[in-house]
Amino acid sequence: MHYSGLFGMLRLLLSLSVVFSAIGGSSMSAAAASIGRSNSISSKSHCPRQCMTDIVTEILDSMVAHNPYTLPMASFYVATENSHPAALGMMTLWRTVTKAGPPSLLAIDTKKGSAYFALDISEGNDITESVLRGRVKVVNRQITELELFINRYRGDHGFSFSAAELPTNYEVLMSPPANRTKASRASLIALSEALFATSSNLSVSVADSCQFTEAGWKVIDPGTNGNGSTTPLGCSWPDDHPTDTNARVGLVVDEELGFVVTSGVIPGKVFGYGNISAFIPNSMTSAQEAQEEWLEEMKVLDIMPLLTPTGATGDTLEVLQYYNDELQAMQINVYLSGPNMTSPWL
Ligand SMILES: *[C@@H]1O[C@H](CO)[C@@H](O)[C@H](O)[C@H]1NC(C)=O
Ligand SMILES: *[C@@H]1O[C@H](CO)[C@@H](O)[C@H](O)[C@H]1NC(C)=O
Ligand SMILES: *[C@@H]1O[C@H](CO)[C@@H](O)[C@H](O)[C@H]1NC(C)=O
Ligand SMILES: *[C@@H]1O[C@H](CO)[C@@H](O)[C@H](O)[C@H]1NC(C)=O
Ligand SMILES: *[C@@H]1O[C@H](CO)[C@@H](O)[C@H](O)[C@H]1NC(C)=O
Repeated sequence: MHYSGLFGMLRLLLSLSVVFSAIGGSSMSAAAASIGRSNSISSKSHCPRQCMTDIVTEILDSMVAHNPYTLPMASFYVATENSHPAALGMMTLWRTVTKAGPPSLLAIDTKKGSAYFALDISEGNDITESVLRGRVKVVNRQITELELFINRYRGDHGFSFSAAELPTNYEVLMSPPANRTKASRASLIALSEALFATSSNLSVSVADSCQFTEAGWKVIDPGTNGNGSTTPLGCSWPDDHPTDTNARVGLVVDEELGFVVTSGVIPGKVFGYGNISAFIPNSMTSAQEAQEEWLEEMKVLDIMPLLTPTGATGDTLEVLQYYNDELQAMQINVYLSGPNMTSPWL
């Protein structure tokens, strides 16, 4: 309360000073004024890569300082933390984060004025870190949108998790080979549109070295009851995949590094992990059936308590990396909420 009152006062003083300088400016000649204005608009409105990087750094620094009030927020902004809206000063992140940055992954869209960042953060205990990821949108160098997620452990999204391995895994993606063939903006957007589409004819080649992660961890198939492989799976572009006809496509399109970020809101079911996944989208019926089959076998064995399969919604910010005409990385970043949920961003 105290801080927000103070913040309101600062804003008022700030806007008063803007009014005064505008009045002062009216004595300038019309030509000088219009030159001054066009200069200030072009320099103020565009936010190149370094400017976007600086804003992401400011966001992370402000969390560590437990003070969001220094951020260049627009007069009206939209912000969510783990799928629900909240004013920044009320968010958990600005209360608990004690170490953050620089980001391990940073995708920047200078055309849209948006960026996606992901990193491991500490909330006071460096032994068990969490994964922070977010999307920011900037207009006239002011933050208009901030979509933040903190995944603290597997239950937040349904299985793979490693805040510890995230930095090394993502470092590779941030330094693609210099001689790569970059993908066009149009092909990155086409990829984003196909990702959650119910039908698409886009054929996608997958690089042998394509890195497949969920919440920082290279996904493995541990097999039935954990008796499978520990070798990371590669990527695939399967026909059997989650769908969302309202998917938010091309949220961040980074033509330089080949990233594209897409959001899908995916209804599904949470299982106690068996041999498929702890969260299986409803559109993947055969996977759900196989997991139910495992569950039935376990019921008969009666050797451990089993979670009753329960409806849930996966709010997903999926990051793809594409260059040399091949998919190079796929990151399925999910945050689970209750069943029948939608997104404040729709
Ligand atoms: C880039 O260079 C590497 C080795 O320097 C080479 O193996 C690769 O074929 C080159 N890739 C392209 C797309 O030219
Ligand atoms: C995909 O191709 C089939 C047959 O070539 C066509 O009927 C269908 O409309 C295409 N779908 C899309 C989404 O373009
Ligand atoms: C899993 O592997 C362990 C150790 O090799 C073995 O004891 C156990 O029977 C296996 N369980 C299943 C279900 O295959
Ligand atoms: C999972 O377990 C079920 C029941 O044992 C089995 O039918 C299914 O093939 C298994 N699926 C995978 C991918 O291991
Ligand atoms: C709401 O969620 C429940 C539990 O997952 C599911 O059975 C039901 O089909 C959902 N309803 C709608 C309208 O999506």
